[in-house]
Amino acid sequence: MNMASMGILLIFALICVSINADTDFVKVECKAQQTGQYGQQSLLECVVRTTADVVNAKIIVVTWRKKGDNKPLMVYNRGEKQLQPGYKFAEPSWNVQNMNVSLLITNTALKDSGNYFCYVMTDSGDHTADISLDVTAKYNKPKIYYDPGTTGGTLMCESDGGFPKGRIGWFSELKDEWTSSSQMEAKKTGSGLFHLSSKLPLQPGSRFSNYTCIVYNASGGKEGENTFVLPDLPPERQETGQGPEKVGPAAKIVAPVVVIGSLIIGLLLLLVVLHRRRSQQARRCSTIPLMSGHHQVPDRGSHVEEGDLEEIGETWHGSRA
Ligand SMILES: *[C@@H]1O[C@H](CO)[C@@H](O)[C@H](O)[C@H]1NC(C)=O
Ligand SMILES: *[C@@H]1O[C@H](CO)[C@@H](O)[C@H](O)[C@H]1NC(C)=O
Repeated sequence: MNMASMGILLIFALICVSINADTDFVKVECKAQQTGQYGQQSLLECVVRTTADVVNAKIIVVTWRKKGDNKPLMVYNRGEKQLQPGYKFAEPSWNVQNMNVSLLITNTALKDSGNYFCYVMTDSGDHTADISLDVTAKYNKPKIYYDPGTTGGTLMCESDGGFPKGRIGWFSELKDEWTSSSQMEAKKTGSGLFHLSSKLPLQPGSRFSNYTCIVYNASGGKEGENTFVLPDLPPERQETGQGPEKVGPAAKIVAPVVVIGSLIIGLLLLLVVLHRRRSQQARRCSTIPLMSGHHQVPDRGSHVEEGDLEEIGETWHGSRA
């Protein structure tokens, strides 16, 4: 063998070695994105895949760590396991031939959201994969309170225990939306979860028999609802006690007005009737002297007094003379 062929062999050998390292006889495959529920178990699913050349691969090391943490959450190293509380192999009886190296978070907290790395070393190679976890919390069924205090009353809807920040919508009789008339407030509680509250002032002129409040999560999905049936009228306005007093002031004004008004109208009618009679009498009296002059008295109606008529009659008569 000359130097050239030796060199070629060496190059082939190097290529083989590098193929060995790169062709991934062993690969860790994880689900890209997992969603966990606050207070429940979360599964970070990863499995080790080997090529067909590899038979009966055995796992030597598994390490799970979270980005930003100094300490790994779980380490399996040649028969020894080190776990932080709340984290374990998802497979209850995991062994070195079980390629399912998924991590289980037993009680998911908001701080568990983030990126994770899973490193696996087998007797046929090693690999690292990453997976991310999103933590959400479901809002509780909302509660509705009614405060009749102001003119039309106010409805208040509250829901808590959710994450991320959601919103509250209002509907009357499940048809018309009133959300734009409401005011919502979102407060972060000690645990990092949100408390939502929304106030809907009611107008006395446009009250509906019932109102529904709906809680939506951050992506707009409906998470819970509740309906409140309004009393027909605020009770203090239709029941005894305050009732007559509330009607009182109006009645005090209206009743005298009606009585005095009808008295005035009656008197006026009486006056009109009397005047008519008197003027008719007056006309009858005054026509006698006027008839001699063949003159008609201009009709002045009931406003003309008896005396006036005679005067007019005389001046009329006189002017003609
Ligand atoms: C891995 O194990 C967990 C827990 O037993 C199981 O829920 C999951 O489906 C397994 N994944 C695969 C790919 O087998
Ligand atoms: C919102 O609710 C919908 C429907 O229930 C669900 O599919 C979605 O994952 C939820 N999103 C969040 C951020 O909670």
